[in-house]
Amino acid sequence: MTPRHPRLDPLADRYAARTHGMKTSEIRALFSVVSRPEVVSLAGGMPAVTALPLDAVGSMIGDLVSGMGAQTLQYGSGQGDPRLRERICDVMALEGITDANPSEVVVTVGSQQGLDLVTRVFCDPGDVILAEGPSYVGALGVFQAAEARVRHVPMDDDGLIPEALEQALLECRANGDRVKFLYTVPNYHNPAGVTLSEPRRRAIIDLADRYDLLIIEDNPYGLLGFDHEPLPALRARDSRRVIYLGSFSKTFSPGLRVGWVLAPLAVREKLVLATEAQVLCPPSLTQYAVARYLDTQPWREQIKLFTELYRERRDATLESLDALMPAGTTWTRPDGGFYVWLKLPHGLDSKLMQPRAVNAHVAYVPGIGFYADGNGREYMRLSYCYPEPDQIREGVRRLARVIEAELDLHRTFDKVDTGQFRAVEHGGSGGGQPFGPQVPDVEPFVGPANSDRFEDRR
Ligand SMILES: Cc1ncc(COP(=O)(O)O)c(C=O)c1O
Repeated sequence: MTPRHPRLDPLADRYAARTHGMKTSEIRALFSVVSRPEVVSLAGGMPAVTALPLDAVGSMIGDLVSGMGAQTLQYGSGQGDPRLRERICDVMALEGITDANPSEVVVTVGSQQGLDLVTRVFCDPGDVILAEGPSYVGALGVFQAAEARVRHVPMDDDGLIPEALEQALLECRANGDRVKFLYTVPNYHNPAGVTLSEPRRRAIIDLADRYDLLIIEDNPYGLLGFDHEPLPALRARDSRRVIYLGSFSKTFSPGLRVGWVLAPLAVREKLVLATEAQVLCPPSLTQYAVARYLDTQPWREQIKLFTELYRERRDATLESLDALMPAGTTWTRPDGGFYVWLKLPHGLDSKLMQPRAVNAHVAYVPGIGFYADGNGREYMRLSYCYPEPDQIREGVRRLARVIEAELDLHRTFDKVDTGQFRAVEHGGSGGGQPFGPQVPDVEPFVGPANSDRFEDRR
């Protein structure tokens, strides 16, 4: 019988259980807003591709098709083009990975597909993944789709805290949880903007050894440092326990969708099987384009140009934050990459504040999107990679005014004790901790909460 009120989605009963768990990321939800010209977007992490030599790249791709059409427009190998895999090894050598063999590299459709492949290959539903708190939103989406459970490990200004990682490992062991791997972004973290210090790199590799822990090192920003040479990758220290994900999205172009995984041979075999099941092979044309770019264009100079541009934008962001943010607001000071992680004054909630910010024509990503457990409401991610410095200054000015207004409201309503503007408490509400308590003796929040270096200077 046809129902009298046709359902909005007639297939609603047929979806797999994991499909019901999928939700729009905080970033995608903002797309329609941030594309409005009057809005200054500090939300998206889009690289400044207009700084590329677009004509040179265009004619290079044209020449590829006219000269090598039979290969560039054909299916290719599941593992990826051998020439590109060789060049990828040269790129990784810049971060201390000098022992990589092209046979251990699998080319992927961005490092996002690399994340998906690795998760498919290792995780069953219910398995535990340790991940920094906060974590890259796209990784959380992949882990959720695999029905894995994420247990966040606290960070501070120097990145992931090794003592907290050890505590998490011990707790998981005591609970009988199967920890499949640690997922970490050691350089210019998305969203926290911090970098794992050299001593901590050693400590984490040491822990991996002692606890037989597999590490997934996701490193799209490592070559985008402002002040120093890249720190050696975790993979440079341990080729058995570290699987490395790389990408050309931030150093060349995200639109080409070329990334890679470097893994021991046995794992590489499984990754190739998984990629063949998923996409048959990575796109030939874009692989040839990246290989040709690395062969013929001054790509190291281009990366330098990108970092100078991002440094200028980082400076504009930090100077404006220093000058304008109300007392009680704190933030990280990245020395590379795209992001600043900002903590609101006590009691404010970045998700609740968002509509008021959009009304004031400024956009950010609420911190809640970067946690799998409902935490992060008092944080937000600000990206400085895309807007020009003047737009950044204007965006921060608008944001500061919104926070001031929010504080005013908060004070007013707090006086009459409506509770209306109270931030959601940590440790249970809004989805709660999926498992294991927070580390009791380590401050679980990134950067600014732990450092008076980042206190407001007004
Ligand atoms: C930490 C991290 N990993 C992976 C990705 C995905 O990048 P790709 O474009 O290579 O898929 C991003 C993109 O922003 C990222 O920030």
